[in-house]
Formats: sequence, structure tokens, C-alpha cells
Amino acid sequence: MPATQITDEELKSLTQAILRRYGIDFTCYEPSSLKRRVDRCISVLKLETVHNLWVKLLKDQMFVHRFMDEISVGLTAMFRDPVLWKALKKDILNSLATKNRINIWHAGCSSGEEVYSMGIVLQESNLLSQSKAIATDISDAAIAGAQQGKYHHLKLAEYEKNYREYNPLGTFEKYYQKDGTDGAMNSELIKHVDFRHHNLISEPPPGQFDIIFCRNVMIYFDNQAKINLLQRFHQHLNDGGYLIIGFYDALVPLIDKSKYHIIDLDAKIFQKI
Ligand SMILES: C[S@@+](CC[C@H](N)C(=O)[O-])C[C@H]1O[C@@H](n2cnc3c(N)ncnc32)[C@H](O)[C@@H]1O
Repeated sequence: MPATQITDEELKSLTQAILRRYGIDFTCYEPSSLKRRVDRCISVLKLETVHNLWVKLLKDQMFVHRFMDEISVGLTAMFRDPVLWKALKKDILNSLATKNRINIWHAGCSSGEEVYSMGIVLQESNLLSQSKAIATDISDAAIAGAQQGKYHHLKLAEYEKNYREYNPLGTFEKYYQKDGTDGAMNSELIKHVDFRHHNLISEPPPGQFDIIFCRNVMIYFDNQAKINLLQRFHQHLNDGGYLIIGFYDALVPLIDKSKYHIIDLDAKIFQKI
């Protein structure tokens, strides 16, 4: 546990100062988890006090990007929640197969594992060439990593176990090339994605989509921010488009049932009405 413990008051004035100075809005993040992340950031960056963090943030424009990387939690994995990927392949993608182009948005994509999982599912459904994905995150470091599409072989071994649960008969290794201790994802899986920096709280969605993934991101936001985002996603889904949320996002009670059908509660798939 980090030694420094930022108070509620300090957190409030720090987030307001960042909003005023840089237009970056952390004010609607859930306070207790944001406090833990700020305390961790002070410890990891050896800043020792909240005051030092404050001075660094307000004097050093470049530092705010480092701070954002530390605050955003990038925990992710390929084929996490195999039930979702099975449901996508079996029940969802068929309904989109007649479209000339399937537009997909991965909002809060972290280091790209979710994006490449979807790329593989699309390839195995023969839909990769007619799909275009946009993958966004607030963290520049995460986006740079995602775009590179390289993962350590130990991680890939872990991901293979998830993949097998989704498709016991498939071959995960054919989707990447060995590159030293890493595996580099195949170029066609990288090429169909446009990776971009994007802040979900302060920027409008980057287009109209048939599928929006926003998994394990809204967990950090307060209820009002979650409700606003669910409305925005609805506006930016094509008719009959799908919203996919995370297993622990605690969002189901906030979803307006007059706007979304529940398609699969286990896989957390909702369809725009
Ligand atoms: C736990 S990861 C989820 C990754 C992936 N969606 C998954 O479920 O495997 C959460 C991601 O949300 C991003 N994030 C947090 N706040 C954000 C914001 N305001 N706008 C965009 N991305 C944000 C973080 O940088 C982090 O990469």
C-alpha cells in the first residue's frame, strides 16, 4: 500500500485544477478507486507528497500524459470471458454478415488484447475483410502498445488457454509470428484497426457503429458519467447495433430497457432498439 493518502478535498481540487489547466476530466471518476490510483502514482513516481504531484502536474505539460497512463488501469487479456466470444461467433455476427461493412469501436482498448481477440473471431467467421475497427484509449502508452501488437510469449501462453475455451478446435498460434521472446500479431489483424487517442468523458464517439465494446472501463466512472455514456453509445449505434460491456461493470441496472434489448445477460450483450 502506498504511504501517501490523498484526502477527499485534495483529490477534488487536484481534479478540478487538471480540468481547468488541460481540459482533461477526472472529476467523474469514482473517488475511492481514483484515490488509490493517485496514491499509487505518487509512490511509483517517487514524488512523496500530494503537493509535489500537484506542482509537477501544473508546471510540466508533458507530465500529464504520464499521469494519465498511471491513473488508467490497463488490466486486460485476450479472450477474457470466453462466453462472450462464443456468443459473438455463434449468435451475433451472423446477423451482421449481410452488411457490406461492419463498423466496430473498442472504447478503452488498453494494450489491444480485446481488439485482436475480436479480429480473430471475425477471421474465423470469414468477416474480417468486410470489418473496420476503431480502437481508442485515454492512455498514449496503451495505444502505442496496442498498435504494435506484440505480446510476451508467457502472456500468449496464458491467452491460448482462454482461446481454447472459446474454440477448442482452433489453432491460436497461427495468429502471430514468433519474434524473440514476443509474438507479433499477424498484419491483417493489425491493418483492419485504426488506433487513436480518445477520452470517453470529454470527446464525442468517433463515428457510427454496428458493435461498440466498452468493457471494464466505465467501472471507474460515477453513475452520472455512466448514464451519459450509455446514452451516447445509443446515439452512435446503428439500428440494431450491439453494445458489449464488462462482466463487473455493474451497469445492467443503469441500462434503459426502452432503448436496449438484453440479448445475452451472461455475455453482457445488449442491442439497440
Ligand atoms: C481495464 S482496461 C480494459 C481493457 C479492455 N476493454 C478489456 O476489457 O480487456 C481499462 C482501459 O480504460 C482506459 N480508460 C480509462 N479512462 C478512460 C477514458 N476517460 N477514456 C478512454 N479510455 C479510458 C484505460 O486507459 C484502460 O486502458
